[in-house]
Amino acid sequence: MTTARAYPNIALVKYWGKADETLILPAAGSLSMTLDDYPTTTTVTLDDGEDEFRLNGEEQLGRSADRVTAFLELVRGHARVAGLDTAHYSARVVSVNEGPTAAGMASSASGFAALAVAASAAYGLDLDTKELSRLARRGSGSASRSLIDRFAVWHAGDDEDSFAEQIDAPDMAMISVPVSTGKKAVSSRNGMIATQETSPFYDAWVSSTEVTLREMIAACAAGDVTRIGELSENHAIRMHAVIAASQPSIRYLTPASIAVFDEIAALRADGIEAYATADAGPNVFAITRPELAETVSARLAPLATGEAKILGPGPGARLIGDGE
Ligand code: PMV
Repeated sequence: MTTARAYPNIALVKYWGKADETLILPAAGSLSMTLDDYPTTTTVTLDDGEDEFRLNGEEQLGRSADRVTAFLELVRGHARVAGLDTAHYSARVVSVNEGPTAAGMASSASGFAALAVAASAAYGLDLDTKELSRLARRGSGSASRSLIDRFAVWHAGDDEDSFAEQIDAPDMAMISVPVSTGKKAVSSRNGMIATQETSPFYDAWVSSTEVTLREMIAACAAGDVTRIGELSENHAIRMHAVIAASQPSIRYLTPASIAVFDEIAALRADGIEAYATADAGPNVFAITRPELAETVSARLAPLATGEAKILGPGPGARLIGDGE
């Protein structure tokens, strides 16, 4: 029985579109901050019989259970190749997710990162961070980045080369501004396929993302929070634009999300530096300097339907001991 904990990550340069659907290879690289709250804690116990998946106390059936089983099959495949007899066992997976699930709070990232670490250890595999990142990628692309402490770049490439690595970046704060706890209507997977197949801006999105990633890596190296914020907000808006141009249109942001983007722009007009981003869901994150986090949070809290939380750079996925 092994337990691992992982945290969500929020991309500053977003991943949206695959070069390979089965291997989950991204069309372009991306860059994210791992958060220090909303963890997923997952325990894997080897067993006989069928795989089982419990999330927040409830037995999961259907699609989310199938995704976990498919992932466990991959881990068992590695175990077979390594000649381990654990490969014959099924697994009981028990997860507790402290953030809202499937509402653009990156729960699949923390979920599959924790599962990659817990399941590989339970089956007796000894994988390094790069191997774990490649493995987590197969569960959910963005999970590859939750293996990494603080800030991660996830490389585009083939199966061997597509993993996340740590990069240096200045301390920043993110303020989560939840505006909905509902499940999103279109999954990231289906939204990406629709965008790739039907959005006339898709090619421009991919080529411009490659340029933005290079600019973002340079801004991180220079410790330039202003540039990081400007690039992040613009890239997030570009992602929602290429998605909205799908036919039929897909829209993850709601009027309440747009109101948060507007309030963040109003903060900037008042000389308080903050930038907005949002993943494939309505919830918004403000990016700011740590010393401005309280001020930004106080201004955005009235627009949130849940607690506006101040988050910092957090740890990569890892095994945790019994006592924790
Ligand atoms: O990992 P997935 O398949 O849930 O994709 C997540 C995509 C975004 O969160 C919208 C962007 C990103 O880079 O995290």
